[in-house]
Amino acid sequence: MKLTVIGCGYLGATHAACMAELGHEVLGMDCDMDKVAVLNSGKAPIHEQGLDDLIAQHTASGRLRFTASYAEAAAFGDLHFIGVGTPQQPGVNAYDLSHLFTAVRQLASRLKRPAVVAVKSTVPVGTAPRVRDLLHELAPAGERVEVAWNPEFLRESFALEDTLRPDRLVLGFENGHSRAEAVLRQCFEKIIESGTPTIITDWATAELAKASANAFLATKISFINAIAEVCEASGADVTTLAEILGHDVRIGPHGMRPGLGFGGGCLPKDIRGFTSRAGELGADQAASILREVDAINSRRRERMVDLAREQCDGNLAGKRITVWGAAFKPDTDDIRDSPALAVAHKLHELGAIVTVTDPRALDNARKVHPELNYIDDPIAAVQDADLLLHLTEWPQYSHLDPHRLATSSATPRVIDGRSTLNADHWREAGWTFRALGRP
Ligand SMILES: NC(=O)c1ccc[n+]([C@@H]2O[C@H](COP(=O)([O-])OP(=O)(O)OC[C@H]3O[C@@H](n4cnc5c(N)ncnc54)[C@H](O)[C@@H]3O)[C@@H](O)[C@H]2O)c1
Repeated sequence: MKLTVIGCGYLGATHAACMAELGHEVLGMDCDMDKVAVLNSGKAPIHEQGLDDLIAQHTASGRLRFTASYAEAAAFGDLHFIGVGTPQQPGVNAYDLSHLFTAVRQLASRLKRPAVVAVKSTVPVGTAPRVRDLLHELAPAGERVEVAWNPEFLRESFALEDTLRPDRLVLGFENGHSRAEAVLRQCFEKIIESGTPTIITDWATAELAKASANAFLATKISFINAIAEVCEASGADVTTLAEILGHDVRIGPHGMRPGLGFGGGCLPKDIRGFTSRAGELGADQAASILREVDAINSRRRERMVDLAREQCDGNLAGKRITVWGAAFKPDTDDIRDSPALAVAHKLHELGAIVTVTDPRALDNARKVHPELNYIDDPIAAVQDADLLLHLTEWPQYSHLDPHRLATSSATPRVIDGRSTLNADHWREAGWTFRALGRP
């Protein structure tokens, strides 16, 4: 099939490359000309395992190309995926849908033939009819443009695998729109035929599928972090407790690691957007759990700052603090709402001299937080440090030798915000070891 992907960021660049991998001819479209140039040179504009290779392979094969032109996109094919950003509006909990509606308007006015517009961006429930109305009003093809809703469940750092072999495929359609369904089924034929559970549903259910999945994931993290607060108050160990809970098949071990909490471009804004939309719909009480989830998550960051102050003998001014990790999670360069950087920034505000290291995310971090110091090498970063904070669990940090690090730090004190360092090894090496939710 010939198809386009509008918005080529973390989601869109991945989707475009994976659609080419499935055998389609793909034109990616993004309003950011620099991003388009990088993509057309065969490189990924983000760090995502395997994505560079896939983009290089398919730009070379001619199945994948990128443009900044809506006219080109509209003329290219008759299936258009939209994956533009839907961030949080500044100062309120609601989504900013301006990128989505701009993309829909720009595309619509150029759609002269029957087409299917499949939206992947995460939105508040009730957005699909607004997209349909705009398309029908502005497209020369009018009502022959159909809308499909195809929420995306990919996890950054597993994005290719999750796109090519998703654990489920959700397709939402307006009643009676069998053409859109036929087009999407053809597009995802290989994925459907490989046995992927495929759920065909209405628009509202498809929109809520993504919102509620993220609401649950955030709740699971905040649940164990609320338990961590009780562990800290009672002397229990939340990592052992999480392991015990995880053996219960009804609970399961996944997505429940205690620590500094969640961040990124999705979970925080999605639970807030969900809460805001539930309020508009008169279902505010149902979303009150998510306000608490958000509050617990914020408290983890505050608790980390408090623990750091405690470890620095009650005074952060002038203390040299090294932060391992800038990305919101390992194996990505995404720093959106990164818990690690939020803590680093707060410590800087409180007078500490903060040095941050990260294998992939330093360029992005520098742009947003020029007030912090940056260094590539995690070992050199610890030189003369008064305190080390482990805030993003890059696997390589767990393999560094605490003995070697102890000799170069000014005071061997570490706080593990992600519960992946081996406390016994670090203590044996002479470190004062603290962790969230552990004695
Ligand atoms: N990142 C993820 O892991 C993930 C997973 C599932 C769903 N989502 C959802 O996917 C959407 C995109 O997220 P992302 O992380 O890829 O964001 P992103 O910011 O990385 O990418 C968005 C892209 O859209 C482009 N864009 C913005 N307005 C445009 C317009 N009018 N026309 C063309 N291009 C435009 C931007 O230049 C940018 O490249 C969001 O709704 C997000 O919630 C993201």
